[in-house]
Amino acid sequence: MELILDTAEVSEVAEIAAWGVLSGVTTNPTLIRRSGGDFIDTVCQIADLCSGPISAEVTATDVEGMLEQAHELKRILPKNVIIKVPCNPEGLEVCRSLSNDGIGVNVTLVFSASQALLAAKAGAMYVSPFVGRIDDTGEDGMQLIREIMGIWTHYPQLETKVLAASIRSTEHVIECMKVGTHACTMPTKIFRELITHSLTDIGIEKFLADWSAVEAEGRSHSS
Ligand code: G3P
Repeated sequence: MELILDTAEVSEVAEIAAWGVLSGVTTNPTLIRRSGGDFIDTVCQIADLCSGPISAEVTATDVEGMLEQAHELKRILPKNVIIKVPCNPEGLEVCRSLSNDGIGVNVTLVFSASQALLAAKAGAMYVSPFVGRIDDTGEDGMQLIREIMGIWTHYPQLETKVLAASIRSTEHVIECMKVGTHACTMPTKIFRELITHSLTDIGIEKFLADWSAVEAEGRSHSS
């Protein structure tokens, strides 16, 4: 499963990229706003730190405006940047057009299996169902991922990857792994939690204490 970072904080991308496990980065207007940075400069810096696909979202709402923004972004941003569009009729039209031009598209704000399938048929590279925001409504967001992955198994010719988004916990990530979700984008906090275990920390402390004792006894050199 591709592990993708959902952030517009350049320092966080540098931190996780250093682990050697980062498959890409997703940004959105909210994350850009929160970061306080310039959109183009931020995406350029991120694209420099991570060779995987970096999602940059268009903000126009009409087809012409979205296509104009998308082509402009592709012109000025590094090659590994892909275009994020919303999952609505205009987004589908833009997705088909960009896909025909060989431009990668991430169709975002997916909340149903029918939206996911339509985005795939429009040539999306990724479809992004929002798990946490469905949980927020009192329903089970993971059920949508299970449903979509189940549908995908019936159509092996589908090349579109399912990218679980709006991830709020490590449990979400593990549940995504269990059903073979292609990719998962998560905040830095969740990434850090995935690598952390109290028994690992306790184990390291114990090994270090024992090694100090070995050194104190003068037994740390072979000759
Ligand atoms: O990738 C989409 C993500 O940024 C949305 O997450 O937590 O705002 O629902 P959230």
